[in-house]
Amino acid sequence: MPNTYQSYIGGEWVSSSSGETYETFNPAHKSDVVGTFQSCTIGDTQTAIAAAKAAAEGWANTPAPRRGSILLKSLAIMERRGEELARAITIEEGKGIIDARGEIKRAMNIIEYAAGEGRRMFGYTTPSELPDTVAYTIRRPMGVVAIITPWNFPLAIPAWKIAPALICGNAIVFKPASATPYAATLLTEVFEEAGIPPGVLNLITGSGGSVGNALVESPDISAISFTGSTEIGTRLYSRGAALLKKIQAEMGGKNAAIIMDDADLDKAVGGVVQGAFGSTGQRCTATSRVIVEDGIYDDFMKELVDRTSALTVGDGIDEAVDVAPLSSQNQLDTVMEYIGSGAEQGARLVIGGHRLEDGEYADGYYVEPTIFEDVPLDSRIAQEEIFGPVLTVFKAKDVTEAVEISNSVEFGLSSSIYTKDLTVAYQYINTVETGMVHVNAPTLGGEVHLPFGGLKSSGVGAREQGQEMVDFFTEPITVYIDHAAEAKDRARFI
Ligand code: UN1
Repeated sequence: MPNTYQSYIGGEWVSSSSGETYETFNPAHKSDVVGTFQSCTIGDTQTAIAAAKAAAEGWANTPAPRRGSILLKSLAIMERRGEELARAITIEEGKGIIDARGEIKRAMNIIEYAAGEGRRMFGYTTPSELPDTVAYTIRRPMGVVAIITPWNFPLAIPAWKIAPALICGNAIVFKPASATPYAATLLTEVFEEAGIPPGVLNLITGSGGSVGNALVESPDISAISFTGSTEIGTRLYSRGAALLKKIQAEMGGKNAAIIMDDADLDKAVGGVVQGAFGSTGQRCTATSRVIVEDGIYDDFMKELVDRTSALTVGDGIDEAVDVAPLSSQNQLDTVMEYIGSGAEQGARLVIGGHRLEDGEYADGYYVEPTIFEDVPLDSRIAQEEIFGPVLTVFKAKDVTEAVEISNSVEFGLSSSIYTKDLTVAYQYINTVETGMVHVNAPTLGGEVHLPFGGLKSSGVGAREQGQEMVDFFTEPITVYIDHAAEAKDRARFI
């Protein structure tokens, strides 16, 4: 019998004031219920905002190193509950268990990094123009912040927003994707057990629209960190800007890997297969395009097709599976529609292209790993984010043309190049329009102590992670202290 989970407001686990709940289902066995969750309302959201507001000052006044020690406690709890958390991700989001364990590790890395920031949180001190005057900056928390997260990294993305927000002294209203409340609930339990005080972290589950609006419209929310679609991010950013809120929106990608003639073929094919089909392509840093130089094209394609056909598709709970199901019926419909549009708009299907529905696949959202070549540059599959196991292949005559193709989309999150030539690598690094740039490595991921985010339609506002996380979750306050014994004629010095 699946459990019923509550939302977490003011340090209490509570039901929605509407009394309404909803269920989530396992994408590999869609009749298996994962759990029952609260359908939170605008009223619940306002209660959560009020709880956060009441707790904000106490948390802001807790010394940052002390906040760091509480965060560190959550690491030990995650270590202990690691396998449970990874399984929660797999049964709810669908991703392979190995990827899910990687996600837990990533969440732990950011918590560890954020906790250390409690002993830095640097401002700076600089000489003043005036005698007997000291000038320096301090950082002050934003107050109450909203964290809105997507379903595809149901634990790591919340962790990499919540941990920075907490270490910087903010109180939080956390709204996870309606499709993945289970991982979000377990993460909230972890922080509760670690000793985050009541009201500092509040969880509201349920569907997006009205709750999201209530967050952005609230005068008590000073900053919003969002990851999700470009469409919703753009709306949130515009409305937030009108209300003068600080907004960070991390959105879509259409990431390309460039393969030059001198690339190490094994490394290049391995990186592209992992980038395109790992996590079933459902990550914003997935490799959605590969741009191959003429001379290596045939060898690359042969090896790419060989390795792609060797991938095992199946239930992600099985460690031997390479490509797990898509996360929902909606995802399945979208991906199948893109595959259909590829053929209609003149691309040539090289491998895959079908939904898998027989036998063990009957009860899940499975699609074959799919590759298209001869893809028209203006077609939908060349331009739009697919968020599924679909790779589009393009040919280029040199690095200049390859970068032009890479840049020919509205997105600019991540990219990569495979080459041994430093001159070529630097031309690419200096001209490619993406926020993250990889040489001889897949387009995927990032390390938590470096900024994460993109250009163009991929992101707006401060980057996540790295030192930039502190910039987003604090306001710099500039302090001037005149310690002279006598009044000074300020005009003389300026
Ligand atoms: C990753 O690809 O390792 O929504 C992280 C996403 C991104 C996070 C990706 N914001 O997929």
